[in-house]
Amino acid sequence: MEAIQFKGVTKNFKDGDATIEALKETDFSVNQGELVAVIGPSGSGKSTFLTIAGGLQTPTSGEVFINEESFSELSEKKRAKTRFKEIGFILQASNLVPFLTVQKQFSLVDQVNHQQNREFRDQLLNQLGIIELKNKYPEELSGGERQRVAIARALYNQPAIILADEPTASLDTERAFEVVDILAKETKEKNKATIMVTHDTRLIDKCDKVYIMKDGQLKAK
Ligand SMILES: Nc1ncnc2c1ncn2[C@@H]1O[C@H](COP(=O)(O)OP(=O)(O)OP(=O)(O)O)[C@@H](O)[C@H]1O
Ligand SMILES: [Mg+2]
Repeated sequence: MEAIQFKGVTKNFKDGDATIEALKETDFSVNQGELVAVIGPSGSGKSTFLTIAGGLQTPTSGEVFINEESFSELSEKKRAKTRFKEIGFILQASNLVPFLTVQKQFSLVDQVNHQQNREFRDQLLNQLGIIELKNKYPEELSGGERQRVAIARALYNQPAIILADEPTASLDTERAFEVVDILAKETKEKNKATIMVTHDTRLIDKCDKVYIMKDGQLKAK
């Protein structure tokens, strides 16, 4: 099944009198069980593409389908629900809550879902090598550690779709490969659809498809 589909999607930003075409007319799809990489230079439109895919921004024109349902036709309430239930975001800024410890970051997910799974949480923290940081606050962590907490939190909610924006940006090479391995494993074993935006072309071997973003134009590599 197509987890995400773009039909003729564009995104423009106004910059004074000028218009920035951050995303030119784009058709795209990713299926369940697929790990897709989007590479390309800074400012080319990768984050714009990813945030539209996850419904965090609306397109200027065209349509986005999530699990074969038109996202724009859902009410804002349903959209928010779909975003929370179906999509795990790993964004460029890790978006941890500053006044919560690492383990409390997961309680937020528990509250919404009315259930908790400490065993699974600790398994993820172990896999990502951050279990010993459980009681620390985000400000006490390095950039890479924060990023790994954000990854664990995104996976903890068991989303059908994972959207990761530079998930390996502040990690050393070994950790970066580990993170891609975890994403690949989650995608294959749990039949998720994953889009990973990255600058790092060394990481794309584990991906099923690679797209290049250049000046707002997405092309298959
Ligand atoms: N909210 C916004 N308002 C105005 N312009 C924007 C906005 N968001 C993005 N842009 C512009 O759209 C273009 C694409 O930006 P985007 O953040 O998608 O690039 P990117 O490929 O993710 O870059 P990076 O690799 O640096 O993260 C850039 O020219 C950027 O300045
Ligand atoms: Mg970006």
